[in-house]
Amino acid sequence: MDKILVLDFGGQYDQLIARRVREQHVYAEIVPYNRISISDIKNSEYKGIIFTGGPNSVYEKDSPKIDSEILNIDIPILGICYGAQLMTYLANGKVSSNDEYREYGKIVFHKKDSILFEGLPECSICWMSHSDYISEIPDGFSNIACSDHCPNVAIENKEKKLYGVQFHPEVLHTEYGKQIFANFLFRICELNRDWQMEDFIDRSVKEYQKKLTGKKVLLALSGGVDSAVAAVLLNKAISKDLICVFVDHGLLRKNEADEIEKLFKGKFDLNLIRVNAKERFLEKLKGVREPEQKRKIIGNEFIRVFEEEALKIKDIDCLAQGTIYPDVIESGKGDSAVIKSHHNVGGLPEEISFSQIIEPLRDLFKDEVREVGIRLGLPEDIVYRQPFPGPGLAVRIIGEITDEKIKILQDADEIFRKEITASDIDKPQQYFAVLTDMRAVGVMGDERTYGYVLALRAVSTDDFMTAEWSRIPYDLLEKISNRVTNEVKGISRVVYDITSKPPGTIEWE
Ligand code: XMP
Repeated sequence: MDKILVLDFGGQYDQLIARRVREQHVYAEIVPYNRISISDIKNSEYKGIIFTGGPNSVYEKDSPKIDSEILNIDIPILGICYGAQLMTYLANGKVSSNDEYREYGKIVFHKKDSILFEGLPECSICWMSHSDYISEIPDGFSNIACSDHCPNVAIENKEKKLYGVQFHPEVLHTEYGKQIFANFLFRICELNRDWQMEDFIDRSVKEYQKKLTGKKVLLALSGGVDSAVAAVLLNKAISKDLICVFVDHGLLRKNEADEIEKLFKGKFDLNLIRVNAKERFLEKLKGVREPEQKRKIIGNEFIRVFEEEALKIKDIDCLAQGTIYPDVIESGKGDSAVIKSHHNVGGLPEEISFSQIIEPLRDLFKDEVREVGIRLGLPEDIVYRQPFPGPGLAVRIIGEITDEKIKILQDADEIFRKEITASDIDKPQQYFAVLTDMRAVGVMGDERTYGYVLALRAVSTDDFMTAEWSRIPYDLLEKISNRVTNEVKGISRVVYDITSKPPGTIEWE
């Protein structure tokens, strides 16, 4: 399969670049600039290279660079922002800093005649974010665009198929970004549109049938979209040789565990083992109030239960995981600060060894995983499910976790979610209830009550890295509050969280 190499120089839009390429049905892979050699690039299936942006200046001694030989290996290159400056630098042109030429935001640029800009009008809007600029075009290159501020908005070396743009075509504010990528992929690199999800499913099923026949594969099913899609895909390939273990830690949403079991044992006929481990988890969590400690306990206990099941099943050859592409990229980068220790089932149990790890979704972005899920017949409420933390309601019950508190939160959370789903408002990307550790006085009939304070949390977000609190209409909030205080015994007050992220996080713990 033809591929595009996205060489990562530390830009903030790297994943977006790969997405834009894949939207055109061409497979793109992101690799940090210092993790691949020129000979590896030459010997691969890469038919085009994109240099990403980055925060550095090319003339700084330690800025990220690659051997200039890359310009001579006969693979077309598109340099974006820092990538365009790097291309200039490697080809012996000049990059300078000048306040007069710095540009930020939407800028009109004027194109010249170039295959890269075919189909674009004379002038169009692009998204700029640079203070350095290309001050001297290298030999063999020519100017193919300028703006009112910046003389060299884009350059090309037509013969060697090297192109550089100072702006960001991957950002939607660039009016003709999609067309620019299409020109690069199909006219310059002459690629085929051979990255299709239907082909992906067929290819994966065949590959795993071949690779895994006669082997036993274990998968931890959480009910989240990634492990669900991985399970159904592998089930298609190896059927009963895939054994899914679903650990019910008792901290899922109301009725969720039963629904998951019914769906996967019923419609998909998965070889599924459900482990009811609520008592064990609550025992370990007794008296624990500190959020990070809760996460650690749940993470460890999860592995232990999983491990025990694996030992019971015996002779497991492989472990399958629902790792997706952003997880792969993130673990490759590795230095970002740990805000909360996110628990995933990814950790390998120490005492059991698997000869192989199978990650059928490791090349896919989230929306591609969803598309695969829909094509495999998974219901929309699983495929478009809100994220749900591994430690579940444990991080939505502030303070100590008890059976009683779990029930109160499950009932209140169900009312909130059902009311939002039934309403005609634009749905927030994530919404759930949090049981605070605070009690407040209330009055019901002639009775004084003294129950918990429930917080409602709803956010709109693109990437869950930042989020804005959702403006849910007052009338709807009132209805939810009335229902919760009337129907859920133990809650006397309802509050609405109006903190965005940052400074808050989405979850409370
Ligand atoms: P925060 O609270 O960090 O959450 O703003 C960002 C997103 O991640 C989800 N989240 C988790 N997901 N394990 C997970 O798999 C966890 O421990 C965890 N904690 C938070 C959260 O629901 C939100 O979507």
